[in-house]
Amino acid sequence: MSDFTYNKGDFGTKSSRTGEFNVERTFLMVKPDGVQRRLVGEIIRRFEAKGFTLAALEMVKPTREQAEAHYGVHRGKPFFEGVVSFISSGPVVAMVWEGDDVVALSRKLMGATKPADSTPGTIRGDFANSIEQNLIHGSDSPENAELEISIWFGQ
Ligand code: TYD
Ligand code: MG
Repeated sequence: MSDFTYNKGDFGTKSSRTGEFNVERTFLMVKPDGVQRRLVGEIIRRFEAKGFTLAALEMVKPTREQAEAHYGVHRGKPFFEGVVSFISSGPVVAMVWEGDDVVALSRKLMGATKPADSTPGTIRGDFANSIEQNLIHGSDSPENAELEISIWFGQ
C-alpha cells in the first residue's frame, strides 16, 4: 500500500486574482476531430502537465439532443446547425477536470476559436486550422461548467 497522500494544494498555484486558491471544476471535451486525429493523449497530457486533475472521463457518441443542449446558447446563430451535426458525428471524450482557476486557465491552454487568432503553443494554435473542427471544447464560466457537467455526466 502506498503512503502517498494526494493533496490538491501541492499541485496548484495561487490565484492571481485573490491570492487564495480558487479550486473549480470545468467540462472539457475532445471533439470528434480530436479523436479521429489521435490527439486524445496529447490533449490530456497538456492538462495534466499544467497540474490539473482529471476527475471523470467518458467516451460517448453524442445524441443530437445532447449536442443541441450543449450548444443551446448558440441556438439561432448561423453556425448552430453545423456545430451540432459536427459534434454528434462521431465519438467524443467528455471529461471533468479540477484545479485552481481551471475554467479560465483551460481556455488559455485551448486557444482562441478562430484559427487566425489561436496562438502557437495552445492546443488549437498547434493543431487546428478550422473554426468548426477545432478539437476541443471547454466551459467558459463556472456556471456553464456545472450546466455542461450535468448534460454529459448527469450530476
Ligand atoms: P464558441 O462558444 O463561440 O467558441 P468556443 O468553442 O471557443 O467557446 O462557439 C462554439 C463552437 O461553435 C466553436 O468551438 C466552433 C463553432 N463555431 C463555428 O463553427 N463558427 C463560428 O463562427 C463560431 C463563432 C463558432
Ligand atoms: Mg463557447
